[in-house]
Amino acid sequence: MSVQAPVRRVTAIDIRARKGGAPIVSLTSYHAHTAAIIDRFVDFILVGDSLGMVMHGLETTVPVTLEMMILQGLAVMRGSSHALVVVDLPFGSYEESPAAAFRSAARVMKETGCGAVKMEGGVRMAETVRFLAERGIPVMGHIGLTPQSINTMGGFKVQGKNDESAAAVLADAKAIAEAGAFAMVVEGVVEPVARAVTQAVPIPTIGIGASPDCDGQILVLEDMLGLSPRVPKFVKRYGSLAGLIEEAVSSYADEVRARTFPTPENVYKVKN
Ligand code: KIV
Repeated sequence: MSVQAPVRRVTAIDIRARKGGAPIVSLTSYHAHTAAIIDRFVDFILVGDSLGMVMHGLETTVPVTLEMMILQGLAVMRGSSHALVVVDLPFGSYEESPAAAFRSAARVMKETGCGAVKMEGGVRMAETVRFLAERGIPVMGHIGLTPQSINTMGGFKVQGKNDESAAAVLADAKAIAEAGAFAMVVEGVVEPVARAVTQAVPIPTIGIGASPDCDGQILVLEDMLGLSPRVPKFVKRYGSLAGLIEEAVSSYADEVRARTFPTPENVYKVKN
């Protein structure tokens, strides 16, 4: 009898230990099938609340619910076996108090089996990060451009452009690192400030629209695959899937209309 050793998933502790080492690779996924494809290439998969915009066509991430995150988090856990899975806490599920955040995060971890949660905010969320980290919940922070705050930020605005904003980004990064976050996403921050943040904190920074000097990088999968109609400047398209899908669907539609699909190979015959 041969017994295969189970595949050990990457943990939040493994990611924390990668500070200053080989770059950490990450992508978003919201589905079992894309999670299965990306699993062996990435260190962690983020079930981002960007799913509201990417999957559901919402204008912002604000309407995303805890139930949506749990459903897709579960799908990604089913599809993957190697990468750490981090699930976003959606707007309204954690800001009110550390206790509310703990309840939401514990639900996400129990109901999906994921290895960590992510929450937006710096200085203002530090107490909550500490509360969760001290109670067994690995927390990834998210600073700089925090899309859940779009209504108070006045849009998707790049951060750190002047001295005051740069100091605020740096203070946010230091506050959540000190509070016990194991890593942080640095989004939409001017390059020198993102680099300074990376040098200033003892935990890995994961850049998106930030700096090549961050300890890792993340992109939204559909953006880098060329499936999203509009993408920000920081996205590099590594594929053109929208065109491939159009081609395939157009061939299928032509063949159905011409009755050339299904062919004899695609139908079940009666055996004599
Ligand atoms: O929700 C998301 O996909 C994110 C990434 C853009 C970092 O937070």
